[in-house]
Amino acid sequence: MNKKLRTLLNLVDRPYELIVDTCCDHGKLGKAFLPSSKVLFVDQVPSIMKDLKRNLEASPFQNFELKTLSAQDLEFTTKRNLICIAGIGGMELISILESLLKKNDLSQSDFLLSPQYHIFEVRRFLNENGFKKIKEEIIFEGKEDKRGRELFYLSLDKGDPIKPIGENLFDPLNEKNREYFLAIYNHLKKKSPDSTEFKLYQKLLKMLV
Ligand SMILES: C[S@@+](CC[C@H](N)C(=O)[O-])C[C@H]1O[C@@H](n2cnc3c(N)ncnc32)[C@H](O)[C@@H]1O
Repeated sequence: MNKKLRTLLNLVDRPYELIVDTCCDHGKLGKAFLPSSKVLFVDQVPSIMKDLKRNLEASPFQNFELKTLSAQDLEFTTKRNLICIAGIGGMELISILESLLKKNDLSQSDFLLSPQYHIFEVRRFLNENGFKKIKEEIIFEGKEDKRGRELFYLSLDKGDPIKPIGENLFDPLNEKNREYFLAIYNHLKKKSPDSTEFKLYQKLLKMLV
């Protein structure tokens, strides 16, 4: 299990009726919950699900289910779910959450999220749709630990507000962290210097830029 999946797993601090590992691919995140919870594995690629089924059937566990479909199409019969969405683009993650919110009562469910890119749009969507923070973390992985990933453990019930650009995660004394925020700032400076998000990053990083 890589650093991102390990950190996501360690954020979770309560039991659930069902763990839903959407966009599961290898299923490593869902598998880590099998000793304690029922797990639903979901991916839209049939060959991935075929391999995962074989792999799970050879494990000592029987408390799992697999569904080959777009995560957008999931409908739950359980109420207290932990919905995990990791390793996909921010816009796809928004599309999945938008669709799940329309089709399901998720008021008692929690969420474990790790989007790639479009982090500002993800944060705005989460705020506008009533998500609250249980815990949040930033990690650095990949070559020389240079790739920053923002990880979210969220509820629709109670928790803290989600900050627009994760200013609470900014640590100017940590070089990797500083470089992560500066890279977003430089990208926005080129792409959309008049945008709200650029102005927010500019304010946050004013001592550095
Ligand atoms: C990079 S893997 C992520 C695996 C794992 N969640 C992780 O974070 O390591 C992305 C997986 O998401 C699946 N995927 C992408 N969009 C999806 C969607 N809308 N519904 C279901 N699966 C999706 C892809 O088929 C692929 O297997």
